[in-house]
Amino acid sequence: MLGLNRVKKNAAVVAATAVAAATALLSAPTAVAAPQPVVGGTTTTTTAYPFMMQITDASQNQFCGGTLVSATKVVTAAHCMVGETTSSVRVVGGRTYLSGADGTVRRVSRIWIDPEYTDATDGDDVAVLTLSTSMPYATASYVSPSQTGVYAAGTTARVLGWGATSENGSSSEQLRTATVPVVSDASCESSYGSDFVRTDMVCAGFASGGTDTCQGDSGGPLLIGGVLAGITSWGEGCAEAGHPGVYTRLTTFSSLVTAQVTS
Ligand code: ARG
Repeated sequence: MLGLNRVKKNAAVVAATAVAAATALLSAPTAVAAPQPVVGGTTTTTTAYPFMMQITDASQNQFCGGTLVSATKVVTAAHCMVGETTSSVRVVGGRTYLSGADGTVRRVSRIWIDPEYTDATDGDDVAVLTLSTSMPYATASYVSPSQTGVYAAGTTARVLGWGATSENGSSSEQLRTATVPVVSDASCESSYGSDFVRTDMVCAGFASGGTDTCQGDSGGPLLIGGVLAGITSWGEGCAEAGHPGVYTRLTTFSSLVTAQVTS
């Protein structure tokens, strides 16, 4: 295939590389630098984004992101949940730093994966986790099925995560965020050919690259106007010119998500 790097992050690598990642972040971007989470962008906190959840293993090693959409429901990527069970995962809220012990850890009582999911490049990359007990954090709202206008090319979107800060790089110890423009379907199709499924995906990134989600950011939010509109899914490399990030087009899955949120 394209050598698409879309496997979820190996959780064991996270702790080992956290210090290096923190060090790498010490150099501040200059005024002219492309905004660099996530590759590019800036550090932020779960106080600023209280709905931003870490999806972790049972030892609280983060491997994906998720978005709290009700007190007991978290939207994430299907590819993050492959091979996981309710006993193998935890959801951690209110924890800005990967190595922190603060915040709230919740067990998962149910994992719903879109039944049509097979592979991120085939679409349907959405999952909803039900928490055993409530999270005490503000939730994010998500797009309704009819809000397809939010994906107009050029619209500014925000991404968040603890993922790698460069292609093949290490995770970020602190939560990061960046803004990226939505890319037209035609343009994304010219980047990815038939791996780009218009109904199920939306792309975001600068033509010149430089800012993107990366390994470890999967499952986390793409926010448009502060509303959850996408889920970090896949891309070729990270922040490469001509290869924008690919996100689950949440309007397509909004009804399915609502069915889970209200169940
Ligand atoms: N699949 C990756 C993950 O599991 C996310 C990749 C996003 N890639 C990109 N170039 N935007 O963390």
